[in-house]
Amino acid sequence: MTQTYEEMDAIAMLKADHRKVEDIFEQFEKATSKAKKQQLAEQACLELKVHTILEEEIFYPACRGQIEEDLLNEAYVEHDSAKQLINEIEAGGPEEDFYDAKVKVLSEMIEHHVKEEEMRSEGMFSQARSAGLDMDKLADDMRARKRTAMEEFQAGKPAETRTMEGDNVASALTDKPIGEGAVQR
Ligand SMILES: [Fe+2]
Repeated sequence: MTQTYEEMDAIAMLKADHRKVEDIFEQFEKATSKAKKQQLAEQACLELKVHTILEEEIFYPACRGQIEEDLLNEAYVEHDSAKQLINEIEAGGPEEDFYDAKVKVLSEMIEHHVKEEEMRSEGMFSQARSAGLDMDKLADDMRARKRTAMEEFQAGKPAETRTMEGDNVASALTDKPIGEGAVQR
C-alpha cells in the first residue's frame, strides 16, 4: 500500500521529493518545445529550492552531531553549487546557448546528491535512521515548512546560498577567450 503524503516520515518525504525531481528531469530530456522545456526546468527548480530548505533548516540540523560530519558539510556545499545553477536557470530561458547544458548539469548534481543521501548503510539517510532521529516529528516540521517555503518561492524568491558567494565570480557568458570583448556582469 502506498503511503499518503501526510503519513510519510521524514526520509520517505525526502525520497519522494527525489523521485519527483528525477521524473521532471526525465521529462525535460524528452521535451522538444522550448516552452515545455522552460516549464519543466522551472518546476524542477521550484521543487529543489523547497527540498534544499527542508534539508538545510530541519533535516540536516537534526543530523548534526549524530552522523558523519564531513558528509553533512559536503551536502551544504553541494546544495549551494546546485542553487547557483538553479538561480541561473530561473533567470534565463531556453533561447540561451547554455540553458539545456545548465539543466543537464543540475540533474547530474542531483543524481549525485540522491546517491549520497540514499546509499545503503553509509548514506546520510541510513546513518540518520541508525542514529534514532525522530522521523515522524521531523516530518511534521518539514510538512509545515514546505507550505511556507512553497509560497515564498512561488512568489519569486531566489535560492540563498549558505556556504559560498557565487555572484562574486566575474562571468563572461561565452566560450570565447575571456578578455576579447567579453561582457562582464
Ligand atoms: Fe535530498
